[in-house]
Amino acid sequence: MSTPEYFPISRRGLIAGGAASVAAATVASPPAAQAAPGQTGTPPPSARVAFEVNGKPHELELDTRTTLLDALREHLRLTGTKKGCDHGQCGACTVIVDGRRINSCLTLAVQHDGDTITTIEGLGLPGSLHPMQAAFVEHDGYQCGYCTPGQICSAVAVLDEIKAGIPSHVTADLTDAPKVTARELRERMSGNICRCGAYSNIVDAIADIAGVKA
Ligand code: FES
Ligand code: FES
Repeated sequence: MSTPEYFPISRRGLIAGGAASVAAATVASPPAAQAAPGQTGTPPPSARVAFEVNGKPHELELDTRTTLLDALREHLRLTGTKKGCDHGQCGACTVIVDGRRINSCLTLAVQHDGDTITTIEGLGLPGSLHPMQAAFVEHDGYQCGYCTPGQICSAVAVLDEIKAGIPSHVTADLTDAPKVTARELRERMSGNICRCGAYSNIVDAIADIAGVKA
């Protein structure tokens, strides 16, 4: 293609010149360096936290940004609690804190000073399974097993919630004690995602422990 007379530079020259300018600009002004946390010379703030995990006292000095999930997995090596989404959306990280189930990825470890924490390892171990663990095995409530520790911790706490009379979104009569029904269990377990789709068998396992037919 010929270069019009009013355009004193060829198309090839324009592209080459533009590329050279970009390269020069890149060399001349590098992007501002982003210092990673802990690399600024100032150590990140840390704090001492003491809590009981599965009946054993622990005291840790932690970066204050450490989640309870990372404290359990990376500092105490309790890797039964799983990291799925790390955003509070899958329930794989569910543990029981002072009797209530929580997503351990959504809470900082330093918020749990003095708390009593139960992970899947604290419920039962091979050879001495918790009844809920045994029910999951019996009812085939898992396939890959990645969500299972969270499902089981959640399931144990769900039955305690129902026993304590805590209503759920699907409890029809708020003046009556909630019952263990398949509908209640499905609603209450809805924060625990199972990508293998073992939901029906999970509900059967929980209902079995509650002594009802799902
Ligand atoms: S890892 Fe905590 S909810 Fe998914
Ligand atoms: S058993 Fe595989 S994700 Fe639930």
